[in-house]
Amino acid sequence: MKTLVTGGAGFIGSNLVKRLLELGHTPIVLDDLSSGYRENLIAGVPFVQADIRDADAVHAASEGCAVVFHLAASVGNTRSIQQPIQDSQVNVIGTLNVLQAARARGITRVVFSSSAGIFGELKTLPIAEDHPQDPDSPYGTSKLAAEKMCLVYNKLYGMKNVCLRYFNVYGVNQRYDAYGNVIPIFANRILKREPITIFGDGEQTRDFVNARDVVAANLGAAFSADARGVFNIGSGTRVTINELARIMQSAAGVAVGVQYAPPRHGDVRHSLAEIRAARDAFGFTPSVALEDGLREYVAWIRQDPLTKKQTK
Ligand SMILES: NC(=O)c1ccc[n+]([C@@H]2O[C@H](COP(=O)([O-])OP(=O)(O)OC[C@H]3O[C@@H](n4cnc5c(N)ncnc54)[C@H](O)[C@@H]3O)[C@@H](O)[C@H]2O)c1
Repeated sequence: MKTLVTGGAGFIGSNLVKRLLELGHTPIVLDDLSSGYRENLIAGVPFVQADIRDADAVHAASEGCAVVFHLAASVGNTRSIQQPIQDSQVNVIGTLNVLQAARARGITRVVFSSSAGIFGELKTLPIAEDHPQDPDSPYGTSKLAAEKMCLVYNKLYGMKNVCLRYFNVYGVNQRYDAYGNVIPIFANRILKREPITIFGDGEQTRDFVNARDVVAANLGAAFSADARGVFNIGSGTRVTINELARIMQSAAGVAVGVQYAPPRHGDVRHSLAEIRAARDAFGFTPSVALEDGLREYVAWIRQDPLTKKQTK
């Protein structure tokens, strides 16, 4: 089956493209390489280097596709606070371009990568889909607006769009950058043999879900006959940041120790996804245990040529 993967040069998108190929599908990638890497592209997979804000490029790339996996985004709270206009243009207008192209091409399903950032301050645990949605950043707000656009196209045009709200995703092809997530940041310190910095007392918890499980969620949503709407995608388990630092050092076989810094304003204390809705709708069952996923991640990042350049 021919599918379009926007953001396919990125961390999660490249894992999805790899799996689609393994399953015998024909993915094509649209990405502007702004936070993705040419090194993530897979030989033989058609690649369109274009901006998701370019409606004509999105329309052209979606020709003949049965499904669009829409992952291209301006990612992260910090980036969105620094560049709020770009954040909304890419995340909201970009998503509208995808929806318009899908409609024009008769594609009935877009699987949209949303974020737990749409919830803002967390009031209950675990977090179900109907938890209050009051984002704390332009990023969370633009992702929520984009979700609503996907849903309104379901209502207006009978589409079966699915929005997947990822919690903290980690895995192979996730590299350290200025807006990085905690796992690549900790890995970077471990590779440099420097102590890990933890903000606050480290007893805050997060729900880390492996990219392979996120890919499985995308495929489950895309190929289920009836799924539509919004779904939380996490592991359904949580771990403290202290525990994460311990597991990562053990996976690397290196003890760098931790140092504590004052808590960061705006960081939520606890996070845990309720994932029953995704299980019921399309059989989502996370399968990668954190210890195993981190062992695989550390082994990968140690031999990643781009990371070697960063950490030498
Ligand atoms: N990684 C996480 O923990 C996480 C959590 C919640 C949601 N998400 C969502 O998952 C999706 C993938 O995130 P990721 O972690 O793989 O990040 P990523 O930065 O690795 O991937 C995003 C990709 O989109 C591309 N892109 C950015 N702006 C673009 C534009 N204007 N036009 C075309 N391409 C553009 C980038 O070059 C990159 O390849 C995003 O939509 C993100 O918001 C990720």
